[in-house]
Amino acid sequence: MKILITGANGLLGQHLVQELLHQQFTVLATSKGPNRLPFEPSEQFRYRSLDITDELNLEKVMEEERPDVIVHAASMTQVDECEKNTELCEKVNVYGTTQLLVDAEAFSKYIIYVSTDFVFDGLNGLYREDDDLRPVNFYGFTKMQAEAIMHTSEIPWAIVRTCLVYGNPLQGTRSNIVNWVRESLQEGESIKVVSDQMRTPTYVGDLAKGLVEMIKRRSTGIYHLSGKEQLTPYQMALKTADHFSLDKSLITEVTADTFTQPAKRPPRTGFDISKAEKDLDYKPMTFEEGLQQMGETGIA
Ligand SMILES: NC(=O)c1ccc[n+]([C@@H]2O[C@H](COP(=O)([O-])OP(=O)(O)OC[C@H]3O[C@@H](n4cnc5c(N)ncnc54)[C@H](OP(=O)(O)O)[C@@H]3O)[C@@H](O)[C@H]2O)c1
Repeated sequence: MKILITGANGLLGQHLVQELLHQQFTVLATSKGPNRLPFEPSEQFRYRSLDITDELNLEKVMEEERPDVIVHAASMTQVDECEKNTELCEKVNVYGTTQLLVDAEAFSKYIIYVSTDFVFDGLNGLYREDDDLRPVNFYGFTKMQAEAIMHTSEIPWAIVRTCLVYGNPLQGTRSNIVNWVRESLQEGESIKVVSDQMRTPTYVGDLAKGLVEMIKRRSTGIYHLSGKEQLTPYQMALKTADHFSLDKSLITEVTADTFTQPAKRPPRTGFDISKAEKDLDYKPMTFEEGLQQMGETGIA
């Protein structure tokens, strides 16, 4: 079975490719830029550069490759950049998803779209799969629109929403909360971390395993895949400092209004994951176990 991943260079994409290869799937990794995956090309693994907004090339790749399954993880993910450059954000997140689905309907059999807790307003977390969508920033708005496009799919589809993903990139992708805290404290830098937001942080390896399980079962509909513990970023920073024996006094607790960020953040999100636990036998790590895992695999 051939699986095409979009956004394979990203934090999730890298771990998903690794997990699929580990479970003997054939993987066609695609992403906008040059290959950043640490795997040698083989019968089981290839990489192709693919910008999902390049309609002609997208159709060409899909027609040539005819993947059985697509996991659509490519996205413009920087929330503040999306707020500042709405045109590009809409182009990648909405238009790119529309084009991908058109080609998926022609050349593939099943598609999973990776979405976010930022489709919710954050007033009533933990959220269940059927709760009302009310994004508070442009990034969330485009992800909600992309979800709506998936609902029109003529081939079996699933939406996986996830929340604050952390883990070591296999090779050079952007930072996440744990690596940011760890690296800042290691360099003796003071950091300010908010305590008026709530999330259920997701260890990237759990998310990758959950997605592979969905591929195996051809699960359809919406699933929430995240960790189970509700934590504030401030609590995550303290736990990170404790775990890696770093200086906690460098961490200052602040509220979100301390920062003047272009995009609003939903205050209390996080997921009720009971549907995934029941249907997929999904068993995420605790935050402490995720930190342990990161310590063992090291920072790339
Ligand atoms: N990380 C989180 O905390 C989080 C939380 C909730 C939901 N999500 C969702 O999970 C998914 C994966 O997130 P992530 O953390 O792995 O993101 P990431 O590290 O920012 O990676 C996203 C990838 O998308 C690719 N991309 C951007 N524009 C593209 C385009 N026009 N065509 C093709 N590829 C393009 C980039 O490829 P290149 O590097 O090759 O340019 C990048 O590697 C996203 O859909 C995101 O919305 C993430």
